[in-house]
Amino acid sequence: MTTTERSTGLVDVRNGTASREIFVDDAIYRDEQEKVFSRSWLLVGHESQIPNPDDYYVSRMGEEQVILTRDKQGNIHVLLNTCTHRGMKLCRYDEGNTTLFTCPYHAWSFSTDGNLVSTPGELFGVPGYRARYHEALDKTKWGLVRVPRIVNYRGTIWGNWDPDAPDLEDYLGGMKMWLDFALDHRDGRDAGGVVLAGVQKWRVGCNWKFAPTNFIGDVAHVVSHRSVDMVNIGPSGAGRRDDKRDGASVFGWPDLGHGGTGWAGALEEDYTQPPSFGRFPEVAEYFESARAARRERLKGRFHFQGKGTIFPNMSFHEEQPRTIIVAHPNGPCETEFWRYYLVDEDAPDNVKDVLRRYFMSYSGPAGLTEQDDLENWSAATEASRGRVARDHPYNYQMGLGYSEPYEPVPGCVWARQLFSEQNQLIWLKRWSEFMQGRSWDQLMHRVETPGDVPFPMLEAEATSA
Ligand code: FES
Ligand SMILES: [Fe+2]
Repeated sequence: MTTTERSTGLVDVRNGTASREIFVDDAIYRDEQEKVFSRSWLLVGHESQIPNPDDYYVSRMGEEQVILTRDKQGNIHVLLNTCTHRGMKLCRYDEGNTTLFTCPYHAWSFSTDGNLVSTPGELFGVPGYRARYHEALDKTKWGLVRVPRIVNYRGTIWGNWDPDAPDLEDYLGGMKMWLDFALDHRDGRDAGGVVLAGVQKWRVGCNWKFAPTNFIGDVAHVVSHRSVDMVNIGPSGAGRRDDKRDGASVFGWPDLGHGGTGWAGALEEDYTQPPSFGRFPEVAEYFESARAARRERLKGRFHFQGKGTIFPNMSFHEEQPRTIIVAHPNGPCETEFWRYYLVDEDAPDNVKDVLRRYFMSYSGPAGLTEQDDLENWSAATEASRGRVARDHPYNYQMGLGYSEPYEPVPGCVWARQLFSEQNQLIWLKRWSEFMQGRSWDQLMHRVETPGDVPFPMLEAEATSA
């Protein structure tokens, strides 16, 4: 059986089920590294992590180790963090500033700066180049491997190994509306004024897919956070978060694999929220005045707000907390999570401090809510590995066939309520399309694919959509 045959037919979109094998099987996991992680847009970092010339930040793209650099000319690059001589992990720090990466193994050195060689990442120095190599080594051919497609999207840096991939904005589609809200300054200014307040990293014994399919809108699992609600970590002293306006729903993009939970759009000037941060008057005041400035600045535009997942492995919360999480695969039954925290750069220090404490009490390895999720995912992985357990599919039938097009946003569907598993199915459908090795024309639905299964929606709506 070929790997593609092994990896297809595992998701049944029509019936709302998926094989457990995709969460535990080693061959499928290996296939994912090629079919999903080598072709998707992946979050690498944030420009605020490399503000100065020669700054670098070591990151990952799936299993690949990469270095995000800013060269002397201010340009951003993403380089594979493995020495071309004999594979040593070239840069072993998490972040820093350097003009040259020198390999700890045999000391080949690579430029971060286009002034030293024609392009950053080229092999610059080799010990014994004259005597030992008799000057015969062609240094221009042994530079670091470069990620061919990189984009700075509102401060976030994304990379894609596939030169033929569509532009990031086409890949994101309508999901941009929520991502923009998470990334932009609270007062409505475009990104720029936002920085990351650190990154937390940890490993857990679960399959990586549990995270994106949870954060894409698994509201029914709120029952597992009951204990966090009871200890009242919320910034007004109750529950986990402050109250939000009514009318939230699950929204998803069946052709793109993204989705989340959010609110139907409303004109910015009409978008009101219940008071927040009751225990911290200065923070409450900061957000109130930022919201007022936003209403004024973006008057007449639609306010879209929500949290969710961008296929395959990047998820974000837009407000409480305001964070990004990337689920890096580390084998079929292990995931390395990286959680980034976002704050307005010019917020007062005491506001940043309250947010830092609240966000970390919610998310990250010490966050009470995150700990519940991690326990769910690792225990589900463990209980799905057995030979018998693997034969029994997971169920995603909540709300199956009750999704409808959300007319204001082309390509978007919604459940008109928060409890629905439409988005998990949307993500799995996309995963399945990638695992079939489809062309980009097929993946972006520019052409029809024989045998493609339409996303299940209400009969009458589906025909008019
Ligand atoms: S492995 Fe890097 S110099 Fe040899
Ligand atoms: Fe959760």
